Amino acid sequence: MKFFIDTANLAQIKEANDLGILDGVTTNPSLMAKEGIKGKEAILQHYKTICELVDGDISAEVVSTDFEGMVAEGKVLAAIHPNIVVKVPMIKEGIKAIKWFTDNGIRTNCTLIFSAGQAILAAKAGAAYVSPFIGRIDDSGWEGTELIAQLSNIFSIQGFKTEILAASIRNPNHIIKCAELGAHVCTCPLDSILGLLKHPLTDIGLAKFLEDAKKTA
Ligand code: E4P
Repeated sequence: MKFFIDTANLAQIKEANDLGILDGVTTNPSLMAKEGIKGKEAILQHYKTICELVDGDISAEVVSTDFEGMVAEGKVLAAIHPNIVVKVPMIKEGIKAIKWFTDNGIRTNCTLIFSAGQAILAAKAGAAYVSPFIGRIDDSGWEGTELIAQLSNIFSIQGFKTEILAASIRNPNHIIKCAELGAHVCTCPLDSILGLLKHPLTDIGLAKFLEDAKKTA
C-alpha cells in the first residue's frame, strides 16, 4: 500500500518525506485555505513547491463544477509538473472531465466518493485514483471501511486499473484496516502516520535495553 500525506502544510510534508516512506501528497481547497494560500498564482506556486519537495503523485483539486471550467483548470494544474494528478469532484460534469483528461494523457483522482456506484463510474471514465472518504462515512454513522472492502472486491473482479485511494483518514487504525482490505493507497494526516509508531511495550522494552546497555558500557 502506498502512503500519501493529506495536507498542504509544507513542514508536515517535509517531516513525512524525511521518514522515507512517502509516496505522494493529496490536497483539497479546505487544506489550502487552512495554510492561508490565497489567489491563483499563490496556489500554483504552492503546488510547484510541493512537487519539488516530494517525488510522487501530487493531487491538485479543480474548483470549477462545469466541464469546460474543469478542463481549463486541470490543464493549467497538469502543466505545473508531470507528477500532478488533477482532482475532480464526483459529479456528472466531473465524469465527463475525467474521460477528457484520460483521453488527453492527464491523470485524475476522483474525489468525494461515498458509494460503489460512484467509484465504478469514475473507474470507467479512466480515473487513475478514486478517493472514498471513509472518515466522513464514519462521521455519518456508517462504517467507512466497508466501502473499501466492497471496492477492493469489485475492482479486482473487474480488473479495473484505477487505484483505490482511501481518504478522510482519522486514526492509525483506519490505515491498518485499509491495508488489510486492499486499498492501493492511504492518504493520511501526519498524526495518523506517526500514530502507527506507537506501542507502550516498545517504549518499556527500549527503556530496559538502554538501562541494561549501561551495564555493558
Ligand atoms: C483527500 O483527498 C481528501 O480531500 C481528504 O482526505 C478529506 O479528509 P477530511 O474528511 O478529513 O476533510
